[in-house]
Amino acid sequence: MLALDYQYFETIDSTNNEIKRRAAQGAEEGLVVSAGMQSAGRGRSGHDWKSPVGESIATSLLLRPTLPVECLSSLTLVAALAVRRAIYGLYDIDTEIKWPNDIVRNGKKICGILTELSLEQQKAEYVVVGIGVNVHNRNFPEELLDKATSLDMESHQMGRGDLPPESCQELTRRIWEEFALLYEVFSMTGDLSVVMEEYNRFLANRNRQVRVMDPKEPWEGIARGIDESGALLVETKEDLRRVDAGEVSVRGIYGYV
Ligand code: BTN
Repeated sequence: MLALDYQYFETIDSTNNEIKRRAAQGAEEGLVVSAGMQSAGRGRSGHDWKSPVGESIATSLLLRPTLPVECLSSLTLVAALAVRRAIYGLYDIDTEIKWPNDIVRNGKKICGILTELSLEQQKAEYVVVGIGVNVHNRNFPEELLDKATSLDMESHQMGRGDLPPESCQELTRRIWEEFALLYEVFSMTGDLSVVMEEYNRFLANRNRQVRVMDPKEPWEGIARGIDESGALLVETKEDLRRVDAGEVSVRGIYGYV
């Protein structure tokens, strides 16, 4: 089982960056770096990720997996399941997963995950799993208003009050504990066979029209679920295609999901 070593910074550039620095100094698998505020938080596809002071979780984990590199894009799906389980387990708030790794509710994003891999001679030297969760946010910039939400906002929407003030710390720990359990099983097989059914049950894109942003030419189809490798199966008029996590992004045709 992963031995988790938690370290906290009030302010940092990016918790993913700090894990990379520590990995380069020889830090062991299981190091978790969290921060109250990131000055240069990063998202997928080169976007930045805002973590306003005290409102959200910014946390990253160092892994040193021995599995073949081809399996490792599934880690991001493992992390999504861990976040979903943690939010439901602690706060009884039901969320869905937008493939591969956004946690959403009512079609709006609550959590994003950035998994980064350092390769050395075709082997993984280390992996950083970085998770950002909107917890106490009350408002978002204009451009995110119809795309983002927070756990407090969803709790209100359910007719409840704010989450407890200590939720960021509590949820961070629960996420990594759930991740450690899932990672143990994943490490035995290198695939998602054990959790595929659970993942598909909470897949927001399931049976919905998606646009696959293939750099050569975007195409559309209906998402049917993931396979054991974490690829999204998309049905077109002609065939059933596999879309590998980490290669292209997928957009909903109607709204964010
Ligand atoms: C995305 O949805 O684009 C991924 C966002 C990932 C943000 C987290 S916050 C903690 C960690 N540190 C970073 O700089 N990014 C990730």
